[in-house]
Amino acid sequence: MNDSGDMRDDSVVMKVDNVTKVFESAAGEVAALQGVSLSIRKGEFVAIVGPSGSGKSTLLHIIGALDRPTSGKVFIRGVDIFTLNDSELATMRNYLIGFIFQSYNLINRTTVQKNVELPTIISGMDHADRSRRARKILEVLGISEKAGFKPSNLSGGQQQRVAIARALMNDPAIILADEPTGNLDTKTGQEVFNLLRMLSSKFRRTIVMVTHNPDLAKASDRAIFIRDGMVEKEVAYR
Ligand SMILES: Nc1ncnc2c1ncn2[C@@H]1O[C@H](COP(=O)(O)OP(=O)(O)OP(=O)(O)O)[C@@H](O)[C@H]1O
Ligand SMILES: [Mg+2]
Repeated sequence: MNDSGDMRDDSVVMKVDNVTKVFESAAGEVAALQGVSLSIRKGEFVAIVGPSGSGKSTLLHIIGALDRPTSGKVFIRGVDIFTLNDSELATMRNYLIGFIFQSYNLINRTTVQKNVELPTIISGMDHADRSRRARKILEVLGISEKAGFKPSNLSGGQQQRVAIARALMNDPAIILADEPTGNLDTKTGQEVFNLLRMLSSKFRRTIVMVTHNPDLAKASDRAIFIRDGMVEKEVAYR
């Protein structure tokens, strides 16, 4: 890639170029990111590791276009995403990126089925199509029998699988997961991780996962260690 962000290498799906983020608050400024540069290849499974407060979530929110950086650029498939206006950015995010959060972020007053359909309601998919697609994805993830339940009646691992199903509805190229196993016991966490691993190996989805679990980090393709808002080191495992 050259300075203009023109992608010479097809396999690079995302490039982060000297990103900083300063939060202003009553208590003063916090420099959450202090010049982060990295690139992620198509189909890669990357773990982001680092101490609490090091800037991992801030980084994930910026590469997922949920927040804008203070300075620096993010290119997704060669597009300098922060040159887009808010509505273009939201559209890009909805089609290209699936988010999975530690606390699932499901809507408890409606069913699992409707939760999973949500991104395709926003993107305007026809009712029959989105209903069929949600069923199919719930089936692949092994929770189709829970389609009519409220999320609060499911176990943590089941709720996280619903969140993964929701993240997959628009067939996103990139899946961003912020400590997706953080609220789960070891065994359930491993199962959720295996699902993500499967999405990466079988469906060639690009996955960026924040984790505190060193064993899961080692089972990724590459871990990027963040400390004090900077990339401390990168370790390739595959
Ligand atoms: N909206 C905000 N306003 C002010 N400061 C913030 C805001 N969000 C994050 N910060 C600060 O930025 C720094 C990085 O926070 P971030 O949430 O990215 O850390 P993290 O690595 O994800 O930590 P954890 O492992 O605990 O989730 C912290 O010092 C945090 O207090
Ligand atoms: Mg965090």
